[in-house]
Amino acid sequence: MDAKQLFKQSHLALTLVPFTIRELFYLSSSPCDIYIFENDSFKVLLRAGAYLDGKTLKDIIQAGHIKVFTHESQRGKLVELQQNNLRSVTRSFSMGSPSDNCKRQLSLLALNLRYLFEDPTNDEALNLQYQSLKILFKYLFQNPKKHEVIYKEFIKQGHHYIFTQPFISSLFLLGILKSSHAYSEKDIETLFITSYFKDIGMSAIPVEKYDIEDLNDHDKIILGKHADLSVQILQGRLPISPNHLKIIESHHSFSLLRNSMENIAPPENLVVTGFETMMVNITDIVAAMISPRPYREATTLFEALDLVKLRISNQYPQEFKLIVNHFRSFFSNSVS
Ligand SMILES: [Fe+2]
Repeated sequence: MDAKQLFKQSHLALTLVPFTIRELFYLSSSPCDIYIFENDSFKVLLRAGAYLDGKTLKDIIQAGHIKVFTHESQRGKLVELQQNNLRSVTRSFSMGSPSDNCKRQLSLLALNLRYLFEDPTNDEALNLQYQSLKILFKYLFQNPKKHEVIYKEFIKQGHHYIFTQPFISSLFLLGILKSSHAYSEKDIETLFITSYFKDIGMSAIPVEKYDIEDLNDHDKIILGKHADLSVQILQGRLPISPNHLKIIESHHSFSLLRNSMENIAPPENLVVTGFETMMVNITDIVAAMISPRPYREATTLFEALDLVKLRISNQYPQEFKLIVNHFRSFFSNSVS
């Protein structure tokens, strides 16, 4: 590498920021210059304005370039376009094919959740998630039989688990609460929203760190406080009651289980504040266990329910039956 190239490379290293290639889906042209890092140097992959389609992006992914780069000053354009895409699919959800809209909405919701994690105090990013979730909730509430397909298609989209876990656990929660016939649609909607945002405090640690099995001691302490951080982030910004914030605050009431699964220090106070908190917690545990992580395999649904049984079947025998029955019908064609 000559001196001029060396200078150019070090300048790029200082000004480029990484992002996932998935953020280019749903765009007809690239809003920014896209670089890849190959053989110890940055190379231009696409210039701003370059034509984009699904095939081009799939080819790039297949070539192993999931992590790409752009200039820090250009990243905002990308974020703005994907926020507009989510806004527009939310507004026109009732038009066209509902299942296609649902698929697209979920993908954009996961992309945009990354932006909220990057800037959790951004009201626009939070409100956009909230409005989209409300529209999505209505469709999910009215179409419980489609949950399994929606779940499977969402997983196939390949988003980072930090951005899939909130929806998956909330989808399970919605299904169980609906099948209990003990709640109004509005109650379930608020609990669905509560569950979805419960882990926003995890944004205090960079997403890449969640790929490794063992966080350092400092990060473990922050992660141990993520429920409190979520409350701090959301307080006064989401239309949910103090009781719902309380559910978020104590959503790791059964954390001994999660402790063994995810290496999180157990909270000092293991108090369960009620049936709703237990359900939010249990659906979170099941969703996490049956999904793979970069550092571990997924467990079977049977194993996940077995652990849930150990935790709650003495205290909540009827509720445990409800949970088992729900998952049995949810995975009606593919119980593992
Ligand atoms: Fe959590």
